[in-house]
Amino acid sequence: MESIVISIGGSVLFSDEINEDFFIQLDQLLQKQITKYRIYLIIGGGKKARKLIHQGREQGLPEEKLDEIGIKVTRENAKKITMKIKNSNKIIPESTNQAKNLDEKIVIMGGTTPGHSTDMVGAELAEKTNALKFIIATNVDGVYDKDPNKYPDAIQIKEITIKNLIYEYGTDWRTAGRNVVIDGPALKIIEKAKIPTYVLNGKKLEELEKALNNEQFNGTIIKI
Ligand code: UTP
Repeated sequence: MESIVISIGGSVLFSDEINEDFFIQLDQLLQKQITKYRIYLIIGGGKKARKLIHQGREQGLPEEKLDEIGIKVTRENAKKITMKIKNSNKIIPESTNQAKNLDEKIVIMGGTTPGHSTDMVGAELAEKTNALKFIIATNVDGVYDKDPNKYPDAIQIKEITIKNLIYEYGTDWRTAGRNVVIDGPALKIIEKAKIPTYVLNGKKLEELEKALNNEQFNGTIIKI
């Protein structure tokens, strides 16, 4: 069975606007998909990870330690999501190889090792499972020319080549808790493995469903 990898930001799943109905709808949407695909869901750290990383940085903890703090939160978040999604694993894998070897139709995990965000975990899993597509479900409607949370006149980019994205953002890991749409190490894998990648707003489940069903959706297509 072919696979699809979805990376969902903690800022999407653990924000104030999200309620139980959202998780019921997410579950229903995923249950429909598993008749066709194996689904891998990678869960981010969100506000909680950023807060703890910020506190740790103020205490002078080294970057690697800060990443570890972030990873712990992503795994706790993943654990919470497995409770809400049927046909999913209940023990959280700690590496993409472990995830790949699980039998559940929906495999949910968080972070793996320091030095990147959960987007890179998703890209790595997409590469290893030869995924049909990689969907980055973030808290804005795709990639913009500047941060739409800061600049109301930011313009949404409908399509961008992976080369241009890399030119714009680079492929390095910057620092823990830095909130960019896609982190550099993930871009590197997407380019190398030529993974069809889509960026959309994870709070808009109808857009996620359209992207999963190969329909036109509101978001950004990364051309590889
Ligand atoms: P996230 O993937 O959540 O980062 O990991 P994010 O970009 O802030 O995403 P949102 O807010 O969920 O959308 C949180 C932090 O955990 C560490 C990094 O420091 C990252 O910034 N992390 C996560 C790792 O070091 N390795 C991982 O595999 C995952």
